[in-house]
Amino acid sequence: MPTSRPGIDVLLHEDRVFRPGRNFTAGANQGDPAIYGRAARDPEAFWASMARELTWSRPWKKVLEWTPPHARWFVGGRLNASVNCLDRHLGGATRNKAAIIWEGEPGDDRTLTYAQLHREVCKFANVLKGLGVAKGDRVTLYLPLIPELAIAMLACARIGAVHSVVFGGFSAESLRDRINDAKSTVLVTADGGYRRGAQVPLKRTADEALHGSPCVRHVVVVRRDNFPIDVQEGRDHWWHRLMQHASADCPAEAMDSSDMLYILYTSGTTGKPKGIVHGTGGYMVGAFATARWVFDLKPPDVYWCTADIGWVTGHSYVVYGPLANGATVFIYEGAPDWPDRGRFWELCHKHGVTIFYTAPTAIRAFMRWGIEWPAKHDLSRLRLLGSVGEPINPEAWMWYHKYIGGERCPVVDTWWQTETGMIMITPLPGITPTKPGSATRPFPGVSAEVLDDAGKVIKHGGGYLAITRPWPGMLQTIYGDDARYLQTYWSRWDNKTYFPGDGARRDRQGYFWLLGRVDDVLNVAGHRIGTMEVESALVDHPSVAEAAVVGRTHELKGQALAAFVTPKDGITVDTRLSDELKGHVVKKIGALARPDDIIFTAELPKTRSGKIMRRLLKDIAEGRTLGDMTTLADPSVIHALKQKYQEE
Ligand code: WT7
Repeated sequence: MPTSRPGIDVLLHEDRVFRPGRNFTAGANQGDPAIYGRAARDPEAFWASMARELTWSRPWKKVLEWTPPHARWFVGGRLNASVNCLDRHLGGATRNKAAIIWEGEPGDDRTLTYAQLHREVCKFANVLKGLGVAKGDRVTLYLPLIPELAIAMLACARIGAVHSVVFGGFSAESLRDRINDAKSTVLVTADGGYRRGAQVPLKRTADEALHGSPCVRHVVVVRRDNFPIDVQEGRDHWWHRLMQHASADCPAEAMDSSDMLYILYTSGTTGKPKGIVHGTGGYMVGAFATARWVFDLKPPDVYWCTADIGWVTGHSYVVYGPLANGATVFIYEGAPDWPDRGRFWELCHKHGVTIFYTAPTAIRAFMRWGIEWPAKHDLSRLRLLGSVGEPINPEAWMWYHKYIGGERCPVVDTWWQTETGMIMITPLPGITPTKPGSATRPFPGVSAEVLDDAGKVIKHGGGYLAITRPWPGMLQTIYGDDARYLQTYWSRWDNKTYFPGDGARRDRQGYFWLLGRVDDVLNVAGHRIGTMEVESALVDHPSVAEAAVVGRTHELKGQALAAFVTPKDGITVDTRLSDELKGHVVKKIGALARPDDIIFTAELPKTRSGKIMRRLLKDIAEGRTLGDMTTLADPSVIHALKQKYQEE
């Protein structure tokens, strides 16, 4: 199938083009290339046609109301997200089809059909009501990757409560900050979870967080596996006890299209995480439509997105998008290398996975582990592969295509963000020729450009990625901070062009090649981490006077964190302190933000006005020759630092 085409670009590497196979196109949910032009000519009509596929309790009056930078989609329409994910599938054959197939890390498993999932969701919705949760109230979910997480999300959606999922790897302090920012009244957690054979004591971490979160009145605890926990009478309740007596009859709240569905916190350039707010109607249409066309979901498919539900990928492409399509979703609690490096491939075979969606950082780890692991398992049922989270390097793309996809599966590299809510730049597997390393072109109805500093369109070449029209999955605001919403996303050029914070290049066919972040945000193993957050955590340690964190290229994680730290006077610097600081960051933020390198320095390189010159620190961390140093106040600092970094 690969057709190598005579060079337009001189780079051989980027010249490989993979055209959709004829059979794939013939059977695809979207196989007509004319869709791009049709959607571009009238995006609102296009999105309305997708919206009509969903169930509304009241039709919308207007598709889009755009008062930059705020958009309202499907104005006046009413719907419920849980009805669209569940109730509407109960009439026909989907009723008794698996909605969720789950496997725990130790090998325990559970399957919930659409009818069973609906029942659990209705019961838990009644449990929440019983705890005083009403429409508009916030509920924080801090759980392992178990079906109860999806159940709790959909239960919130059913009664119009707003969920805020906090990834189970976050620390007590991160959890506390997120609970307090959202002012949640209920927290749902578990006694624990499993990760790489170890028990993760979620309830203990939650207890620690709750010391500083007086807004939480009730804690519901899922019993994952009899982990020891402390119970605070009156506040803490077992999930299974509450569910015993809950009614399975729970009418769904008819939500306004613009009502909040959820808040999800993500890193920004300042220390405080941003509560990204997603609405109901537009978000559901975006998640539904993209899941349908990008993943080509069909009734017999078994679809596995390896992301944790705690990230946006899990919200849109484990829960809302696939379930709105009536798909069978597989989820797995644990690590890919537990008990051995073939676990993912064993799971693919065992559960008959046909569509597999993962991150480049995982693909690079699989590459390093070697082809013997996938080779041990039968992966012949796979028919489509996806990638998300960071730029995928062409080698990793080719490896994925060859060794996981057996050279027969299209690979969709999907660019999007927590803020966009839905996939924005992606191939459509039945239509779009792919090039390894390129996310190709915007989804129909989405408008993207590459702009220069002044906002001028760059037709070929590099610049800033920009989204030039509102899209249905678009964030509504930053929770409690609309000024920051405007400032962060809309003030780069004018107040009607969205700035995602990524650099991009366009080739001669207009394909988009994503280049990574251009702001002070790093992408470590597919997760966004603000350098400021890590710096604040370091400076919070009593031995630290000042810290600057930069990213350096890392073979597996994409980027790794290098922290330059100035200790306070009289502090002895040794590896113990360095370990302690790493541990401190883990405690403040979570293991995902642990610095890879800590370099102690008496002084940080600064400009005469006192600004830390991160660019030079980055040069050092990357082992590059140092760039322009003319603005540096004291050049000797940087030379000493460079020498030191090389020695370590
Ligand atoms: C940032 C968003 C959305 C899912 C997971 C991450 C980077 C995401 C790609 C891709 C190049 C990508 C961008 C983006 N990113 N997908 N296919 N190619 N870069 O969500 O934590 O909100 O991070 O991830 O830099 O801005 P997120």
